[in-house]
Amino acid sequence: MSVEIRSMTAEDYEAVERLWEASPGVGLSLSDTREGVLRFLDRNPGTSFVAVRGPRLVGAVLCGHDGRRGFISHLAVAPDDRRVGLGRALVERCIGALRERSIDKAHIFVFAGNEDAVAFWKRIGWGERSELVMLSRYTA
Ligand SMILES: CC(C)(COP(=O)(O)OP(=O)(O)OC[C@H]1O[C@@H](n2cnc3c(N)ncnc32)[C@H](O)[C@@H]1OP(=O)(O)O)[C@@H](O)C(=O)NCCC(=O)NCCS
Repeated sequence: MSVEIRSMTAEDYEAVERLWEASPGVGLSLSDTREGVLRFLDRNPGTSFVAVRGPRLVGAVLCGHDGRRGFISHLAVAPDDRRVGLGRALVERCIGALRERSIDKAHIFVFAGNEDAVAFWKRIGWGERSELVMLSRYTA
C-alpha cells in the first residue's frame, strides 16, 4: 500500500503522540500535550505533515514560522518505514510550505549525540551551525 503525505490535523494527535513517544530523538515536553500541539497547528495552518499508509500513521513533523524564519521539529518516521525516503519527503513538504509563505530559511534543533539524525539532516542538505549556542528559559 502506498504512503500518502498530507497536512497534520487535530484528529491525528493520538497517533502522532504514540509515534513521538516511541521515537528516541524526539524531545517531548509540556508543550506537546494535545492542547499544545493543536494550538501550534492553529497558529501554523498547513505547514505540519503526517505520512500515512492506509490506516497507519508512519511519519510526522511539526513546522511553523514566526514571519521571518521557519522552525521544524519532532520529525519521526516509524522504525519499519525508515530509509525509504519518508523523512526526506516530510521535510520537503515543510520546506515547500515555508517557501509558499515567503520564508526563505528554516532551523532545526537536534539533541547533541543524536548522530543518526545529524547524518540524516546533513544528507538532505542542511548545514551544521557550529558558531551558535542555544540558550532557553521558562517564562514563568
Ligand atoms: C531521522 C529520521 C526521521 C530519518 O527518516 P528516514 O525516513 O529514515 O529518512 P530518509 O529515508 O528520508 O533518508 C534521507 C537520506 O538520509 C539518509 N539517512 C537516513 N538516516 C540516516 C542515518 N541514520 N545515517 C546516515 N544517513 C541516513 C538516507 O540514507 C537518505 O539518503 P539517500 O537519499 O542518499 O538515500 C528517522 O531515522 C527517525 O525517525 N529517527 C528517530 C527520531 C529522530 O531522531 N528524529 C530527528 C529529530 S531532530
